[in-house]
Amino acid sequence: MTVDLLLGLQWGDEGKGKIVDVLTAGYDIIARFQGGPNAGHTLEFDGIKHVLRTIPSGIFHKNSVNIIGNGVVMDPVVFQKELEGLEKFNIDIKSRLLISRKAHLILPTHRLLDAASEASKGKAKIGSTLKGIGPTYMDKTGRNGLRIGDLELDNFKELYRALADKHQAMIDFYNVDLQYDLEELETEFFEAVEVLKTLTFIDSEEYLNQAMKAGKSILAEGAQGSLLDIDFGTYPFVTSSNTTAAGACTGLGIAPNKVKEVFGIFKAYTTRVGSGPFPTELFDEDGATMARVGNEFGSVTGRARRCGWLDLVALKYAVQVNGVTQLYMMKGDVLSGFETLKVCTAYKYKGEETKHFPYNIEPENVEPVFVEKKGWAADLTGIKEYDQLPAEFKDYVAFIEQELEVPVKVVSVGPDRTQTIYK
Ligand code: GDP
Ligand code: IMO
Ligand code: MG
Repeated sequence: MTVDLLLGLQWGDEGKGKIVDVLTAGYDIIARFQGGPNAGHTLEFDGIKHVLRTIPSGIFHKNSVNIIGNGVVMDPVVFQKELEGLEKFNIDIKSRLLISRKAHLILPTHRLLDAASEASKGKAKIGSTLKGIGPTYMDKTGRNGLRIGDLELDNFKELYRALADKHQAMIDFYNVDLQYDLEELETEFFEAVEVLKTLTFIDSEEYLNQAMKAGKSILAEGAQGSLLDIDFGTYPFVTSSNTTAAGACTGLGIAPNKVKEVFGIFKAYTTRVGSGPFPTELFDEDGATMARVGNEFGSVTGRARRCGWLDLVALKYAVQVNGVTQLYMMKGDVLSGFETLKVCTAYKYKGEETKHFPYNIEPENVEPVFVEKKGWAADLTGIKEYDQLPAEFKDYVAFIEQELEVPVKVVSVGPDRTQTIYK
């Protein structure tokens, strides 16, 4: 069997968690391939709202196995809290969740280094979630990191101490005012490590390749979004992993020729949390309306998300880099009530119009070129069939398909599992 990928095409929070949950019934295995607890994937069903951080969004389905892949970075402390949050659902976590030995560990000092690095940047800060993501991936590529498999070694504590002491010197080097009690953080960490060790660690690349041979179907769940990709995102205002399709191959040990469908998830408008350029950002009443109606507050940090019109230049770029085969448009319901909708179809880049996503998208280089589409007034949240959607909504979708040259297969009209319409 092959692997299907599910990826965010914008700056994260597109609604990936909801769609993984919707699609899980059709898969044997759901596997997260990158990122860590900077992610917050929201699922809503049966009146319950739940936010997942490191655990794949297939965990609520009885028949699926969930895998945390080698490309993920895991914080035992956050993971322990995540498990506690799931207790009330009586999920057999031990048999349904498997963790790659090659996934890297986020240490308390990685979190402190994140905070120190951001503090030292002042106004130029990335707007990181401060979960230690950057420093942990730096240790991975710097060949200093500790992995889940190291928890099985007798000398783990020694390895930990050596790395934490090195981090301590680096934190001191930043020379910023950072208040912390490392001993307390370490006690919490080692308690959480004991909980983590009750789970099953596997060689996940072997497990997944054997599963494919045995005919099992796999859905790879991306975190963040393409515009936060370490290579293709709006660098340096990005995360520290490859959020795009290739990241699923390296983050799971799956060969590129095993990938079949690539599901690209995007919002009907655009949001971004944290710093960095955002050409279609709105600073007016329309942006405030999107934020209010769309409840645009970060699921991890609670920070207000910046809102703006749909950007097809950026989306086309993401579609291309990922090889998207099917589009899923989320939060269409949030746009109800706008008389006119703007869609960015090109950038004026250094005076010339372009449809190519350029190296530099800071406001001094890029001005969005918009076309206007007629809006719709109807509330979409109760609609079940595509045919029942307003003509203006269908025109909006058709325009996106025409510009991106990829079909929109699903539109989402509310946060609940059931508010999902197949086209
Ligand atoms: P993810 O990180 O991509 O999984 O997305 P988040 O969970 O961080 O953010 C998406 C937010 O939008 C969550 O609060 C979802 O419950 C909500 N959501 C998802 N789809 C829809 C939709 O179609 N309409 C509305 N109104 N909310 C949605
Ligand atoms: P999900 O999976 C939205 C953003 C942060 C910051 C930048 C770097 O829920 O879509 P990091 O903590 O990785 O060092 O932060 O990336 N960011 C996200 N924005 N959704 C996410 O994940 C994000 N994960 C990181 O706000 O701008
Ligand atoms: Mg999120």
